[in-house]
Amino acid sequence: MIVTIDGPAGSGKSSTAKEVANNLGWNYLDSGSLYRAVTWLFVHEYDYNIEMLIENLTTHNIKIEPLNNKVDTILDGNTCGSEIREQVITNNVSKVAENGVVRQFVNKAMYKAVQEANFVADGRDLGTAVFPDAFLKFFMIADVEIRAKRRYKEMTDNGLEADFEEIKKNLQERDYIDSNREIAPLTKASDAIEIDTTGLSFAEQVETITKHIQSRLN
Ligand code: C5P
Repeated sequence: MIVTIDGPAGSGKSSTAKEVANNLGWNYLDSGSLYRAVTWLFVHEYDYNIEMLIENLTTHNIKIEPLNNKVDTILDGNTCGSEIREQVITNNVSKVAENGVVRQFVNKAMYKAVQEANFVADGRDLGTAVFPDAFLKFFMIADVEIRAKRRYKEMTDNGLEADFEEIKKNLQERDYIDSNREIAPLTKASDAIEIDTTGLSFAEQVETITKHIQSRLN
């Protein structure tokens, strides 16, 4: 079974999805981490050359591995860590994610990962394009100031350098590119439940979503 949580950057999807999955005893799938891993290749292996990245993409291996309540993103045998959260990756990821070959490559890894377990998955196009038959779909939104504040805290808590104005600008740019791309743009599925987290605490977000899932399961 799959529950999808889509929404704009920094709306709290990942942390919420992780906690909801934990409450249910399900796995968590972070689709953004797969796009970030491909962007890491774009920046560090292919020197920002999208043609080279696309030409060589299938020589790389990307997978999601659930292990002890934690799900790792593995690129060519190496577990991805904070290097895929760095600003240089965040600044380039939406451009890389626009590409249809990249999207197919990531989707393939996701389909493979979800074969044998229940997942709460977060992303942009999961309810609309990747898992249109998901058990339950959510669309999380929040005011951009709040989103930028949350992202700033998340980065500094993880020991990454962060600049509030740069984060806010990047969120707006990514929302624009993600919402306006040709293939699988960020949009609310017609059957998704919208949750505005602007005035909600983290615990309230998690509780609201968990309750929806539990009532559907019963
Ligand atoms: O979720 P996160 O902010 O880590 O995602 C990084 C980027 O990956 C997004 O801004 C978007 O460009 C891309 N993405 C996507 N489709 C998804 C998940 C992420 O295009 N399902």
